[in-house]
Amino acid sequence: MKSRRRQRLSNPQLKNNQTETAFSVREVGLVQSVRKFIIIAKGLPSCMNGQIVEFASGTLGLVMGFTEDKVQILVLGDASSIRAGDEIYNKGQSLNLPVSDAFIGRIINSLCQPQDGLGPIEAKEYYPVFKVAPGVMERVPVKETLETGTLILDAIIPIAKGQRQLLIGDRLTGKTTVAVDAILNQKGKDVICIYCCIGKPYSSLLKVLDILKEHDAFEYTIVVSGIASVSTGEQYLAPYTACTLGEYFMHKGKDVFVVFDDLTKHAWIYRQISLLLERAPGREAYPGDIFYIHSQLVERAGYLKPELGGGSMTFFPIVEILQGDVTGYISTNIISMTDGQLYFSTPLFNKGFKPAIDFGLSVSRIGNKAQWPAMKQLSKSLRLDYLQYKELLQMTQLRTTGLSKEAEARLRRGEAINQLIIQDKNKPVSLEEQIIYLYALTKGLLDNLAASQIRQFRQEILEFIKKRYPAFCAKVRSTMDLDDELKSVLDSCLKDYFSEAIK
Ligand SMILES: Nc1ncnc2c1ncn2[C@@H]1O[C@H](COP(=O)(O)OP(=O)(O)OP(=O)(O)O)[C@@H](O)[C@H]1O
Ligand SMILES: [Mg+2]
Repeated sequence: MKSRRRQRLSNPQLKNNQTETAFSVREVGLVQSVRKFIIIAKGLPSCMNGQIVEFASGTLGLVMGFTEDKVQILVLGDASSIRAGDEIYNKGQSLNLPVSDAFIGRIINSLCQPQDGLGPIEAKEYYPVFKVAPGVMERVPVKETLETGTLILDAIIPIAKGQRQLLIGDRLTGKTTVAVDAILNQKGKDVICIYCCIGKPYSSLLKVLDILKEHDAFEYTIVVSGIASVSTGEQYLAPYTACTLGEYFMHKGKDVFVVFDDLTKHAWIYRQISLLLERAPGREAYPGDIFYIHSQLVERAGYLKPELGGGSMTFFPIVEILQGDVTGYISTNIISMTDGQLYFSTPLFNKGFKPAIDFGLSVSRIGNKAQWPAMKQLSKSLRLDYLQYKELLQMTQLRTTGLSKEAEARLRRGEAINQLIIQDKNKPVSLEEQIIYLYALTKGLLDNLAASQIRQFRQEILEFIKKRYPAFCAKVRSTMDLDDELKSVLDSCLKDYFSEAIK
């Protein structure tokens, strides 16, 4: 059999009376063997890594590698109908996906095909899926805060637009909840959100979809579904698809926020693919290039300079660990390529401290540069106060009498901080409101309140201030700071509130 065959096909779009000047050249190869979702093919001498090929059934495949004269192809779809001896067509195209504004509000698969039954999505432009990240000269330092609506994050571990923040923790510790709350909080803030589900069961995706629908978050959100029931190739591709769509909006000058839920599953999927490709397994049986696979993705986040549109892309990759062990191969890799991590702890979650983020192990390496001046000022000593409170609490477990006045005051302050950072799910709090809470805290107004009173204060104070001074929120947002006038308004409102409402 001839190993190399080329076909010249006439262009079917040309009408009869037109002369055929255009040719579509394609190479035809043959399937030699099928290993689950990996196809070994012969007779495609000019195809390259990352190019797309088409099987006789119309299914697409992605060229993953080569051995001597054979090509290794990952099937992006159903591989069950592919048999040895089938033809494969290579048109010399790399993998490009359609992008457009019409994707907002839709649920799509890794090939940008709609999954929500709402009809086709129109797209005129195509973007390459495996694109090189923008270089240093194309970016500017981050300067704007990404409001997550979770007080513990905005005040103590702030996130900036263009940052990559890892969410790491055991199963069922509230990782997805924090990420989805951040999506809910982008309502009306002109940020496009993308939720990318990788290797998770359909039920997990459904829960997220319900929350997004309930809070009308689909007006600005795209969901990329690479759930566990779709083909391995599509699951592998899902985060790159989400990133490609994000890039389209970023280049248009928009702010984009992408959640990858989760990259541990993505690493497992890539390990499966690599083992079937007979690549040498390394640490924890992952292939040697797993670091590259993730860094190539994570690097694509950033803040573009104004000449390039000035858009930004913020990433929240999620990583699941076992028994709180962050020293695994994938987790250490991703920790090293992100700008900080949020560590979710099972003991904290079980104690009822939700969101269960452990301060000691969580850090945001760049976010505080972009914090609002008012927030920066108010949250300056929050982390230290809280950590000292935790330490003191441990010590006082042994000794309950004879505490110094200072220690007692610290315990009370710590307790108040504790009550402020415990937050219900799916109820993001605006930055203006957080600033009011923290202002009251730093003035010592919450120190002598019981937990239930602090809860009542949180529920009522914003409305109270809005009634007294309707322009408060707009003023804080426009200046991002508390000037003397706003401070005096806050002082008098808080004084009245505590004398009227809290008995
Ligand atoms: N702040 C919160 N207040 C109350 N309940 C919460 C809070 N955060 C999370 N939960 C609950 O905890 C459970 C686990 O949350 P979530 O699914 O976000 O965790 P996860 O770490 O993403 O889990 P998985 O490992 O399954 O992905 C959910 O039932 C959720 O409703
Ligand atoms: Mg989750």
